[in-house]
Amino acid sequence: STTPDKTQGVSCAKRCWHGKHTWRTCVQNMNWKPQGQNGKHLQRKPKTGILMLNMGGPEKLEDVHDFLLRLFLDTDLMKLPVQSKLGPFIAKRRTPKIQEQYSKIGGGSPIKRWTSMQGEGMVKLLDEMSPDTAPHKFYIGFRYVNPLTEEAIEEMEKDGVERAVAFTQYPQYSCSTTGSSLNAIYRYYSNKGGRPNMRWSVIDRWPTHPLLVECFAEHVLNELQKFPEDKRDDVVILFSAHSLPMAVVNRGDPYPQEVGATVQRVMERLGHCNPYRLVWQSRVGPMAWLGPQTDEVIKGLCERGKKNLLLVPIAFTSDHIETLHELDIEYAQVLGEECGVENIRRAESLNGNPLFMKALADLVQSHLKSNEPCSRQLTLRCPLCTNPTCGETKAFFAGQKLR
Ligand code: FES
Repeated sequence: STTPDKTQGVSCAKRCWHGKHTWRTCVQNMNWKPQGQNGKHLQRKPKTGILMLNMGGPEKLEDVHDFLLRLFLDTDLMKLPVQSKLGPFIAKRRTPKIQEQYSKIGGGSPIKRWTSMQGEGMVKLLDEMSPDTAPHKFYIGFRYVNPLTEEAIEEMEKDGVERAVAFTQYPQYSCSTTGSSLNAIYRYYSNKGGRPNMRWSVIDRWPTHPLLVECFAEHVLNELQKFPEDKRDDVVILFSAHSLPMAVVNRGDPYPQEVGATVQRVMERLGHCNPYRLVWQSRVGPMAWLGPQTDEVIKGLCERGKKNLLLVPIAFTSDHIETLHELDIEYAQVLGEECGVENIRRAESLNGNPLFMKALADLVQSHLKSNEPCSRQLTLRCPLCTNPTCGETKAFFAGQKLR
């Protein structure tokens, strides 16, 4: 495992395995070989690769169309009639509107930047906390934009990773988000017709991890402090999560229950300091979706005299279009004004919070220690699932031999 990988030359001052040695110490201690005269050395081959799974978001306006195209063609996320034709049609039609939204939040999604920062923090901690499984390297596997999940797996295989952890960055499991990413990993191998060289396991959900709960509680408290003191008690906390079509809920998707579990723990941690509701945002199209809808709740509360509101994104850990545009602009600014709110604020996303990086590292460390390929919950298909790939994916992960 100490064979240097020629593709991995990095500046030691910036990133050595421990993140704290000079390159000379690294070379002496870790058997690393210097590379050339430019102060760079070769990083050791990663033993454990952590694939951070998420949907991703377009970094630039010109990426919006391809992002939407992949999204509307994803049959694990949604089923459309004649999807191969209707998907591209909808993607093309929606592109200008979505581009306009991204242009209002700085021209692109910050999710890759946040995920990289979180990954850096996580592996640095892991190298210290778990030397047996080090060196650790993180990879980003997005579902709809670069770096795509399939490319990340290829890179992991090329790096010679021994132990691969598919780590969903959605704390609460839904077949349309985490499930879709896991199906993509399974399909990668089944399309190639080969077996993985790495031993795979999955962190498939973590809705009530104590440090995750701590981070959310901290961000809620910080934001509550910013309300005028005489209004603080009157604030209604609205935990807002991305909604799901009722067709997905009714086939037995675990997401609504798991989001509820996070909310419950956060409120327990806060000592039930304020009244709250779990509300659902981002509904699209004519079908029935899980409610109550965030915008209707804001309106309804204002009509009933509750005009101090705190929005808390609870199902996505980094900023994205649904926090920066939908919550901040559409709801807090435009709708808030229309409804005559007194104060409406949004709790910050977990983004670069160091405690959140600790949560990620802790999740990976205890997962590696457990030697379990996945949670028991992952092994059960939705009771009304009609997607055969789900069953194959679950068998693929549950059947990994880790020892
Ligand atoms: S849709 Fe949930 S397991 Fe297939």
